[in-house]
Amino acid sequence: MDEKVKKLQNRISEAKLGGGEKRIERQHAKKKLTARERIAFFLDEGSFEEMGILVTHRTTDFGMDKEIYLGDGVVTGYGTVDGRLVYLYAQDFTVFGGSLSETHAEKICKVMDLAMKVGAPIIGLNDSGGARIQEGVKSLGGYADIFYRNVQASGVIPQLSAIMGPCAGGAVYSPAITDFIVMVDQTSYMFVTGPNVVKTVTNEEVTSEELGGAKTHASKSGVAHVTSSNDAACLIDLKRLLSYLPQNNTEKPIKLAFILTDEIRDDLNTIVPDNPNKPYDMHEVINGIIDTESFFEIHKTYAENIVVGFARLGGRSIGVIANQPLILAGVLDVDSSKKAARFTRFCDAFNIPILVLVDVPGFLPGTDQEWNGIIMHGAKLLYALSEATVPKVTVITRKAYGGAYDVMNSKHIGADFNFAWPSAEIAVMGAKGASEIIFKREISEANNQEAKLKEKEKEYADKFANPYRAAQRGFIDEVILPENTRRKLLKTYAMLENKQVELPKKKHGNIPL
Ligand code: COA
Repeated sequence: MDEKVKKLQNRISEAKLGGGEKRIERQHAKKKLTARERIAFFLDEGSFEEMGILVTHRTTDFGMDKEIYLGDGVVTGYGTVDGRLVYLYAQDFTVFGGSLSETHAEKICKVMDLAMKVGAPIIGLNDSGGARIQEGVKSLGGYADIFYRNVQASGVIPQLSAIMGPCAGGAVYSPAITDFIVMVDQTSYMFVTGPNVVKTVTNEEVTSEELGGAKTHASKSGVAHVTSSNDAACLIDLKRLLSYLPQNNTEKPIKLAFILTDEIRDDLNTIVPDNPNKPYDMHEVINGIIDTESFFEIHKTYAENIVVGFARLGGRSIGVIANQPLILAGVLDVDSSKKAARFTRFCDAFNIPILVLVDVPGFLPGTDQEWNGIIMHGAKLLYALSEATVPKVTVITRKAYGGAYDVMNSKHIGADFNFAWPSAEIAVMGAKGASEIIFKREISEANNQEAKLKEKEKEYADKFANPYRAAQRGFIDEVILPENTRRKLLKTYAMLENKQVELPKKKHGNIPL
C-alpha cells in the first residue's frame, strides 16, 4: 500500500509543478502568478477541490507523446468565494503556453457543465497561447465546445472572464460571450489576429499592447469591462464583482445586513448647478444616493458620457445607469447606448433592480453618429430597458429631452417609479432650439431679434423647463427634494421587492444588433 500511496503523491506533486520550476520562474519574471497561485489567492482558503489533475493529452504527432504534463495546461475545479460556491478554470501558461488541446477543453467543459447543473457562477482565468498548434482541428473543436456552452449558460449563471496573459485568435470568443471581462494592465492582451498578421494584411505597425492591451480594450473597443493593475488586483476585482451577483438566474443577489443611519443626504441639494449649461459629475449624485463606497463601476473609461455599475442601497444590490453631464454634456451616442443596453440586459437576466439617473440633452447629432447607426444602437437601449422586468426606477436630475427622455427609463416603457428633482427639465428640446423653430417668424419680424429670441426662450423655458407638466400627466410620480432621494429609493425598492411581470411567450426577441 505504501508504494501505491507514494505513487499517487508523486503524481500529484508532479502535476502541481505544471511545466516545471524554470517555466514558473519565467512566469514570475513577467510579474504573473501561476494558475495555482491565482486559484489559491482567489478562493476561500482551503476550499479548492480540483478535478482532472491527472488528465493528459492524447497527441502523438511532433514527438508530443514524449512531452506529457499532468493536468494538460489547465487547473479546473470548484471552491468558495466568501462562502459562495463557484466553479473555475485557470490556464497554466507553464504547460505548452497554456494552449488549448482537446483534453484541456474537455476539462473546461466538465466544470462548465457542473456549474450549469448546480446553478453557480463560472470563472475563467485565461492565460494561453491559443489553440495547441500540434493538435490542429481537435483543438478548434475544443474551443467550439466551450463557446457552445458559454452561449447555453448565458443568462442562466454568471460567467466571468479574467484575461491574465495572452488571449488570441479563436480564444477571444469565449470571454467575449461571457458577462464580464477583467483585464490585467500591461501583462494581458486580446486580439483576433496579432501584430504580425496585421502588418502583413494591412501594413499597419502596431504593438500587442496598442492593438489589444487592457487600456485599448477598456477605452477604445469596450471589450474589457474592468482593468486591474496586476494579478492580485484582478482577482480582488473579480471577487468584488461577484459579491453583487446572484448564484444564478432563479435567485436574487444576497442582501447584506444593513443598519439605516443616513437616509437624508443634504449634499445632494447642491450638486446640480443653477446654470443648466454647467456640467457636474454624476458620480457625486450616485455616491450621494447609495451605501457608502459601494459603487463598482463597469466600463469606467469607455463611453464615459454614460456611467454604469453595481451599487448597494440599504444592502441591496442594484445596477445604476446614469448620464454623465461632464462628458459630451451626457448625450446618448452609439457607444454609450451599447454600453448601457448590455448592462441593462445583464441586470435583468440576474434579477438586479435598475436605477436610472437622467440628465440627457438628447442624442448626439452628426454624420459620424448617423453613419455608424445611432438609430439601431440607440434602439438597443430602448429595447433593453423596455424588455427588462426587474424593478426599474428613474430619477431625473436635470435634462430629459426628446427621444432620449423616452429611452432613459421613462414611465412609458415600463419604469415602476419615476422621480424628478425640482431642477428637472422635461421637454421635447432645449428652450433655445425650441424657440428658434416655433417662433421663427415672430423672431425674424422683430426689430431686435436677439431680444425677441431671449423673450421667447424664457417663455418656453417657464412652460417646459421644469418637471411639473410631466408630473401633471403622471409621467413623473413624484417631484422630490434631492436630499430625500436616498430615503425615497430605499422605500421604493423595498416596495418593489416582489415585482413579477410575465413577458409575452416567444422564442426570443429580435433586439436590433
Ligand atoms: N501551441 C503549443 N505550444 C505553444 C503555443 C501553442 N499555441 N503557444 C505557446 N506555446 C508554447 C511554446 O512553444 C513555449 O514552449 P516551451 O516552454 O516548451 O518553450 C511556451 O508555450 C511558451 O511560449 P513562448 O513563445 O516562449 O512565450 P512568449 O511569452 O514569448 O509568447 C505567445 C507567448 C502566445 C505570444 C507565443 O507563444 C505565440 O505566439 N504563440 C502562438 C499563438 C498562436 O498563433 N496560437 C495559435 C492560434 S490561436
